Amino acid sequence: MQTVSAVLDSISDIGRDPSRGGYSRGVYTGAERSLREWFDAEATARGLSVETDRNGILWAWWDATDSRDGALVTGSHLDSVPGGGAFDGPLGVASALVAVDLLRERGVEPRRSLAVAVFPEEEGSRFGLSCLGSRLLTGSVDPDTVRSLTDTDGTTFAEASRAAGIDPAHLGRDEDAVRHIGDFVELHVEQGRGLIDLDSAVAIGSTMLGHGRWRLSIAGQGNHAGTTLMADRADPMIAAAQVVLAARKIAAEQDGARATVGRLQPVPGGTNVIASRVDLWLDVRHEEDAVTASLIEKIHGQAQKICAFEGCRATLTEESRSGTVHFDGALQHTLASALGRSFPGTPTLPTGAGHDAGILGAIAPTAMLFVRNPTGISHSPEEFVERDDADAGAVALADVLEDLL
Ligand code: GLV
Ligand code: MN
Ligand code: MN
Ligand code: MN
Repeated sequence: MQTVSAVLDSISDIGRDPSRGGYSRGVYTGAERSLREWFDAEATARGLSVETDRNGILWAWWDATDSRDGALVTGSHLDSVPGGGAFDGPLGVASALVAVDLLRERGVEPRRSLAVAVFPEEEGSRFGLSCLGSRLLTGSVDPDTVRSLTDTDGTTFAEASRAAGIDPAHLGRDEDAVRHIGDFVELHVEQGRGLIDLDSAVAIGSTMLGHGRWRLSIAGQGNHAGTTLMADRADPMIAAAQVVLAARKIAAEQDGARATVGRLQPVPGGTNVIASRVDLWLDVRHEEDAVTASLIEKIHGQAQKICAFEGCRATLTEESRSGTVHFDGALQHTLASALGRSFPGTPTLPTGAGHDAGILGAIAPTAMLFVRNPTGISHSPEEFVERDDADAGAVALADVLEDLL
């Protein structure tokens, strides 16, 4: 049996991004496609039978009975944010493969089929819509909208899918996959300092913070940086700067709220050019969905005031929204009792991050396991997991799967 770190070491060169640091593994880019091939090989070597479904989700099956309906599914994603860490996504996939090894070693004979799944575009880093694979599977997003999503190079999701060997005509709710998922358990690196503070290697997920993404386009007057007097400008960058500060202020005034502008695009983007438009993306999160809605309304209202003052116009477009998810209570109990043997007193922990487990909760009981991240930093090259903790995570996952199989 390999350690989780040994499995992850085998992909440590794929998708490195020297200019940003860390990894850039956008969905269906060369790097992510290499990771998909790697997964196919690793799963096949373990005697699992690998299939790609109509939405580009990879399934590695351990068929225990004639039917795959109501199977136990585990897994995560292999795509990353730009300049992300090595663990967000791949840890859950590598741990699932190692958990299969452990179950085989233990001589477990499953009473239902088990699948390790890999979901495409969890981060929404290339096409803007997070958890795209699971949203397509559950039918919570319109396939026509998805087909026409465009990356920064102008490639559509339909074109990128086709290049990855997935026919975009068939995207959409997948009744087979819906029937197949009896329970879903996702292991994931912890993305804050929750487990450092709790002094524990693993935790059971309790809730997933509601969140949404909005694009704010601020239109102004493109012009010459040298010939345009300061008083004569309608500069959307000046408006954007104030919107960023307003978002911080509005979120800071609301207990438990987060608002982030992590991406901003001036058009056309020249040093000696006053931009004609600035697009910025807002990520807003709160445990109460109504509060998330009121936060974005406040930010939008403030943006309109700022833009009116600066001679610009603001247009807000919602790109995605996911409500707060409470993971299945009964499944959490099952996890706690399975972990009672090797990890007594495993804590429960909410997460501020989004996950496919949140989306799949609409069609099946879902649960999450978190593994300690000693830096407390994620979506950054500094995200980390100690080797011993990674192996503890795989043992915990195997314990859980064994009880659920
Ligand atoms: C995904 O990791 C997210 O929380 O945005
Ligand atoms: Mn992430
Ligand atoms: Mn993730
Ligand atoms: Mn079937």
